[in-house]
Amino acid sequence: CGKYKIVMVRHGESEWNKSNQFCGWYDSALSEKGLAEAKAAAKALKEAGYKFDIAHTSLLCRAIITLDIILKEIGQTDIPICKTWRLNERHYGNLIGLNKAETAAKYGEKQVQIWRRSFATPPPPMEKNHPYYDNIVNDERYKDGPKKEEFPMFESLKLTIERTLPYWNETIVPQIKEGKLIIISAHGNSLRGIVKHLDNLSEDQIMALNLPTGIPFIYELDECMRPVVSMKFLGDEETVRKAMEAVAAQGKAK
Ligand code: 3PG
Repeated sequence: CGKYKIVMVRHGESEWNKSNQFCGWYDSALSEKGLAEAKAAAKALKEAGYKFDIAHTSLLCRAIITLDIILKEIGQTDIPICKTWRLNERHYGNLIGLNKAETAAKYGEKQVQIWRRSFATPPPPMEKNHPYYDNIVNDERYKDGPKKEEFPMFESLKLTIERTLPYWNETIVPQIKEGKLIIISAHGNSLRGIVKHLDNLSEDQIMALNLPTGIPFIYELDECMRPVVSMKFLGDEETVRKAMEAVAAQGKAK
């Protein structure tokens, strides 16, 4: 087994996951199902006996509340929780708020698949007249970063990884090496970025990865942070496979 372990979990289903809308940096709440998924994740973690030292999450409530539910259910609300924009979901630009199936009907499933899962192709930039432009850009929560002049209007997965990795390398890795057991509660694409980095996945391999909501997965890492065990889900294979397929299917035209 690896020298170190780390637990990661994509937030439970959000209201905009449920309504199949591109979400990105919009602060969608958890749906009822998402709350239940967070509780189920906690149960699995408790049964597996995880005792965390530190938690990391984004600035978006769907990830924060997923984490709060987990820590409360496993009786570990006393551990430090670090919140950072660097773990936010990828910024979906002008697609934010659009229905994914309708967008696939309008622009084609292939184009939506490229926007959702490609490595270097960004979504169209969020324009100033976007209905959620002010809601996102002027949000108080970003007072400590990113800087106004660097505030993203869109992010490809490549750009997402570029702003997540400094946090992974400078904050999380040192804590892992100190022997801290960490849980990260984040998002489908910010976690895809970490997974791509850890497993050194190719662009084609990462294109094929869809992360399910609310099912924790474990990495075991060696002293050089190389995976000895990669993305081991705390759930039965059939459930995980079906959940991944459901995420992929959100991009089908209806
Ligand atoms: C979103 O931001 O819409 C979702 O959280 C992730 O969406 P995706 O699975 O379409 O990348």
